[in-house]
Amino acid sequence: MLCVNGQFNIDCNYVGGDKSVSHRALILAAIADGDSVIRNLSLCDDVAATCECLRALGADIRLDGATAAVRPVSVPKSGVTLNCRNSGTTARLLAGLVAGLGVRAKFIGDESLTSRPMERVLDPLRKMGAHFSKTDGCLFESLGGKLQGIEYKAVVNSAQVKSAVLIAGLFADGETTYIENIPTRNHTELMLRGAGADVAVDGLTVTVRKSAVRALNLDVPRDFSSVAFLITLALLCGREARFDGVLLNERRTGFLRVLQRGGANITSENITERFGEPTGDIVVKPSRLKPLYASETDVCDSIDEVPLLCSIAAVTQGRHEFHAVDELRRKESDRVRAIQSIAVKLGATAEVANDSLTIASDGGKVGNPRFCCFNDHRIAMCAVIMALVCGGGSVDCAPFDVSFPGFLQAVGVTPYKLALIGENVRDSRSPVLMSYLASKSNLCCSYVTVSLPRGIPDGELLSVANAFDGVNVTMPFKTRVAALLRADVPSVNTVGKRICPCSTDGYGIICSLTANGIDFANKPLWIVGAGGAAEECVRVLMKYNCAIRVINRTQARADALTEKYGLSKQIDEPYGVLSFVPECEFERNIQLPNSVRFVFVAAYKGQSGLRDKAAQRGIKCVDGLEMLYHQGAKSFALWTGTEVRDDYDGFLKYCRL
Ligand code: S3P
Repeated sequence: MLCVNGQFNIDCNYVGGDKSVSHRALILAAIADGDSVIRNLSLCDDVAATCECLRALGADIRLDGATAAVRPVSVPKSGVTLNCRNSGTTARLLAGLVAGLGVRAKFIGDESLTSRPMERVLDPLRKMGAHFSKTDGCLFESLGGKLQGIEYKAVVNSAQVKSAVLIAGLFADGETTYIENIPTRNHTELMLRGAGADVAVDGLTVTVRKSAVRALNLDVPRDFSSVAFLITLALLCGREARFDGVLLNERRTGFLRVLQRGGANITSENITERFGEPTGDIVVKPSRLKPLYASETDVCDSIDEVPLLCSIAAVTQGRHEFHAVDELRRKESDRVRAIQSIAVKLGATAEVANDSLTIASDGGKVGNPRFCCFNDHRIAMCAVIMALVCGGGSVDCAPFDVSFPGFLQAVGVTPYKLALIGENVRDSRSPVLMSYLASKSNLCCSYVTVSLPRGIPDGELLSVANAFDGVNVTMPFKTRVAALLRADVPSVNTVGKRICPCSTDGYGIICSLTANGIDFANKPLWIVGAGGAAEECVRVLMKYNCAIRVINRTQARADALTEKYGLSKQIDEPYGVLSFVPECEFERNIQLPNSVRFVFVAAYKGQSGLRDKAAQRGIKCVDGLEMLYHQGAKSFALWTGTEVRDDYDGFLKYCRL
């Protein structure tokens, strides 16, 4: 979760080298006839994936900042596993390379990449003679084969497929011809020509013959697709901005074309050519926008920027049309769906019919939008830009490093970096709670969940905790972190750079009991569980003079707590029962004596035997979510120095939105 407020800045210096050009430069350098130098290489995760895969195949790639020195593969390694992570370009372009090298390799990737289509690239490569198989858990496996040139007519409009075929064509006997339906980005052809390969372009037809690639010495221009986020921010906030040294290949700048036709005052100047690629400066001036229109070619030339164009449309009065959008469904997420979701959050309507997307907007802006970004880097960045445009808002994930590692710096957003660490924290409600608290206090925060194995070594546990400005600690690390940090208390849930490690659990319990009108002071109570949160509860309730009996599945741990705090061994008529264990047979078997007037269940997810029994008997039950709210609000106040007005109902409403 990342929550931003309306503060931003635009700094183009954080935009790195173009991602598409960087992938290609590394791949061609890996098969060149000598050592190459690539400057201003993109340092994004996608390009890092390509780097790792090329190293696995035998290339020697040394990085010094953004400068890569590449010694090509001499004898390609076979039987390797290539982890393409989130990167479709890595998987598809390397499918062509590996087919050309004729080696066996298993391609794997993350969940998103695993669900994306690969047949589109395997089909032409198979026709050239490459063998591939598909086994569970991998994208595909290349099995070698001798390549023969073919003539191939594009089935989908994809620069990745074209590039894979052209790269394979460098190794194939005879001539390889690829015929496009409409032009797609042409970086591969341009770079091949620059590196002396035998390649010819005639309209929509590209032909390549078996040839050597000369070593490269190139400077990668700034990534246009990254700059597009900053252009959007400048344009929608009426700021002047200048971006220099940007890749301006017209197969990439459809975004500018669509905006210029829609009245945007955006110009380019100082255009020169680097390695066949036009590069120059972009100047944005305050503009009044009219409805936007993007044809099939415009969409293809702005394929990664369509979410931005549609978001601009969603806050610009009128009906806006985007044609031939289907291919967007096969990106890192279904981007048509993602765009519709963003547009609706921005108060517009977004309808798809006959492969065209129509966005209608009254030009107004909404307050504090919360975007769902489908774990897609471009959707998340687009949503952050729109949150800034709206004066504040939040996104549910922040995978910016996939394509734009300097994104937050480039927009001048410096969040408090907060996290939750625990064994299994994926489904925690803390991120939404922190998003609520950040938006209420108009602060900029990120809050991530980090699941760690129970057996993680102490040093690693501490270095994860130290990587953030503030950390919530949950099961099973509360007591361990307390001991490691020599805290004054036996269990901690709140640690941070500028605060003493402490627990806000006790505070959360007291607040939630008090808010429900429960008069717990001086009463006999049962506490179920003997972990960190249960112990904190014991400590705080003792201050209220409660008599406490601990009940736990492992009796020895209950005895230890009883001994440590001198608790009661026998309480048969408790006034209340407070449970800190997840639902299990032990929890379901606990009987509630007639004396019980309230039950508190810390586990706010899933079933609870105690909660069910309380409900059946009309006994008041306090939900753990309420405690989560109060302890989280206290942690947030400690980290940020900002107290948020107590409003649990407001939080519940926020959760339902
Ligand atoms: C890319 C081509 C496009 C683009 C992707 C990068 C490339 O994909 O969306 O981000 O570097 O060739 P398709 O070729 O699938 O359209």
